[in-house]
Amino acid sequence: MSDVENHSRYSLEKVDICDRAAIERVLAEARPRAVMHLAAESHVDRSIEKPDDFVQTNIVGTYAMLEAAMNYWLGLDGEAKTAFRFVHVSTDEVFGSLGDEGAFTETTPYQPRSPYSASKAASDHLVQAWHATYGLPTVLTNCSNNFGPYQFPEKLIPLITIKALRGESLPVYGKGANIRDWLYVEDHASALRLALEKGAIGECYNIGARSERTNLDVVRGICKLLDEFVPDGAPHERLITFVEDRPGHDYRYAMDPRKIESELAWRPRESFESGLRKTVQWYLQNRSWWQAILDKTYRGERLGRGKAPALGSTA
Ligand code: TYD
Repeated sequence: MSDVENHSRYSLEKVDICDRAAIERVLAEARPRAVMHLAAESHVDRSIEKPDDFVQTNIVGTYAMLEAAMNYWLGLDGEAKTAFRFVHVSTDEVFGSLGDEGAFTETTPYQPRSPYSASKAASDHLVQAWHATYGLPTVLTNCSNNFGPYQFPEKLIPLITIKALRGESLPVYGKGANIRDWLYVEDHASALRLALEKGAIGECYNIGARSERTNLDVVRGICKLLDEFVPDGAPHERLITFVEDRPGHDYRYAMDPRKIESELAWRPRESFESGLRKTVQWYLQNRSWWQAILDKTYRGERLGRGKAPALGSTA
């Protein structure tokens, strides 16, 4: 944030998205051209452990955001009203779990299987309803697994990187055969910008970089990079530990991004390998950022009714 915080067009408000009055105040003061709704509880394991926050933030929070945005939009006139957009940022997980073949398209039926994906699916339905019923100018995006700098250490890539750096065991669920389709965070940001500027009102766009990898391949990729950057700890693969699987673990996600590629001319700039290299380097160079999180809010313990050692324990 430090590189933009002095910019005249930047301001930060810490507000609960379930607090509609507070959102309405922020919109009235900031007078935005658009709202991009990215705020969500997003970690599947945490949703298995404590679904309440997911129902509250993702469903009730989206409802409050839609109502506040609609009131604001109804108060606009002319060009400001025509140009206004509400971009809702969602996930591939709403489509459920794939077998070895195929990919999710924008018309794949919703079949969420975790408290997290069910709460995001519900929020997507609210957004579509607010467009169809009240005419709110919405654009909906569904992205695949993000990775990159500043990702909270509960997620696979930062968790494994940090644990490996600390010489701790690397928990791989089941056999590590589950497949995710990885998207570098800056490529996601460029897709969202296009969806906001050029996306058709009421439409959905799937965002993914055609980068499917098994979890074991991802973990091995991180270990190889760390062998190069921190040779003292090599081989980091010796830390890999197979642990009890996540309950209801979706086998595979894969996005078909042809619509956003052909209609909005979006292309990712990073390959999975180039993005992973940047990400691992960032966690190496920003230890104080994640150390502060480990000290205060999250120690890297296993979430979601499975058992694995917390950060601080060795293999
Ligand atoms: P995650 O980053 O939690 O994202 P999502 O569940 O939304 O896809 O997990 C990515 C994959 O990695 C998923 O298949 C679960 C697996 N995983 C592990 O094997 N070990 C871990 O410690 C974590 C957090 C995830």
